[in-house]
Amino acid sequence: MTQPNYGAYQYEIYFAGLTGVQPALPMTYPEWEARAEQALPPSVWSYVAGGAGDETTQDVNVTAFRQWGLIPRMLVGAKERDLSVELWGTRWPVPVFLAPIGVIGLCTQDGHGDLATARAAARTTAPMFASTLMADPLEAAAAEFGDTPGFFQLYCPTDRDLAQSLVSRAEAAGYTGIVVTLDTWVPGWRPRDLAGANFPQLRGKCLANYTSDPVFREKCGVDAATIDADPRSVVPYWAGIFGNPLTWDDLPWLRSLTTLPLILKGICHPEDARRAIDHGVDGIYCSTHGGRQANGGLPAIDCLPAVVAAAGDVPVLFDSGVRSGAEVVKALALGASAVGIGRPYAYGAALGGTDGIVHVVRSILAETDLIMAVDGYPALSDLTPEALRRVH
Ligand code: FNR
Repeated sequence: MTQPNYGAYQYEIYFAGLTGVQPALPMTYPEWEARAEQALPPSVWSYVAGGAGDETTQDVNVTAFRQWGLIPRMLVGAKERDLSVELWGTRWPVPVFLAPIGVIGLCTQDGHGDLATARAAARTTAPMFASTLMADPLEAAAAEFGDTPGFFQLYCPTDRDLAQSLVSRAEAAGYTGIVVTLDTWVPGWRPRDLAGANFPQLRGKCLANYTSDPVFREKCGVDAATIDADPRSVVPYWAGIFGNPLTWDDLPWLRSLTTLPLILKGICHPEDARRAIDHGVDGIYCSTHGGRQANGGLPAIDCLPAVVAAAGDVPVLFDSGVRSGAEVVKALALGASAVGIGRPYAYGAALGGTDGIVHVVRSILAETDLIMAVDGYPALSDLTPEALRRVH
C-alpha cells in the first residue's frame, strides 16, 4: 500500500516559491511564538505562554529533548514511511494529536478556536482532544472534526451528576475516548497570570460546556435567560464545583462513567500508571501539563520511559515540550504511542485560524516523516530506545 507522504509538504512550499509565492506563515516554533505574541491580546498571550513558578519545568520540558539524539541508519531505503498507529481499535493515520487547550477558543481572531481546531483535525487527521473549557459546546466541535477521531478531556467536577452529563454528551456527540486530567483540580501558581490578575474562566470565558449543560443549568441557581445573556453570572457556582481532588477511591466510579476508552492525563510515576491500569483504565497520558501546574518538576520526557515500562501493553500518550518533528520522533522512540502538540498549535491558531493550525501540524508531521526517511526508520515500530543515544 502506498503511504501518505507527509514530507512532501516541503515540495509544495518550494514549488510555490518557483511561481513567486512565499509561505504565508513562519516555519519554526520561535517564529510562531513571536508572531503569536503580536497577534494575541496580552491577557491571552500571557495565559498561553506562561507557566508555573519561574517556568523552569516548562523550559526543561523542551531542553530535555536535546539530551537525546537519533542515530542514523543508512541503506535502509526508507522510501515510504508508515506513520500510522492502531489505538483502541482505531487506526490513526498519524501518531500526533492536538492536546487539550482550555483557551484555544480565545486564540483565533473570531473567538471560535475550538471549531478551528476541529476543522484542522479533519484536514490533518490529527485527532482533537477537546478540553472541558471550550468557547463553543463540545457538540459543535464534534460536528466539525469529520472522520478524524475526537477525544473529550474531562476536568472532573465535584458534582458527579454533572460529570456523568458531560461524559454522556461526549459519547452522544461521537467522541471516541474520554481523557480525565488529574493534575488541575486546583490551578498551579502562575506568576504571569497573577501579575495581571488574569484567569480567563473567572471572567466567564470558555465555559460553554457548562452553560450548555442541562445538569449545570438546573443546579447553578441562575435563571436561563441570565445564563444566556452573560456567562459571568455562573462563575461563582462554576468556581465552586470545578476542581475535584480525586483519589484512588473515586476511580471505580470514574471507570463506570463510560464504556469508551478511559485515559488518565498527568501520570508521570510508574506506580501510578500500574495502579491506574489495575483499576481498568485503557490508556495512560504522561504529561507535566506543559509546566503550567507545578514548577520544580522533572521534564516530562524523562518520566516517559518508566511509565511506558509500567504500562506494558496499555498505550501511553505523551505531551509537554514538543516543538517540532524531532521531539515527536524522540518521544515515539522512548515508547509513546502518540504525541500531543500543545502550545505550537495555539500559536498557529493565533496566526491563521484553521489554516494556521493546519500549517503547524503539517510542518511537524513533515519533519517527523523526513527524519524517519533520512535516518532510516521507515515505521513507528523501528523507533525504539535502541534508535537513540545520549548526547554528551
Ligand atoms: C493547556 N493544557 C490543558 N490540558 C488539559 O488537560 N486541559 C486543558 O484545558 C488544558 N488547557 C491548557 C491551556 C493552555 C493555554 C496550555 C498551553 C495548555 C495542557 C496541554 O494539554 C498540554 O499538556 C501542554 O500544552 C503540553 O505542553 P507544551 O508542549 O504546550 O509546552
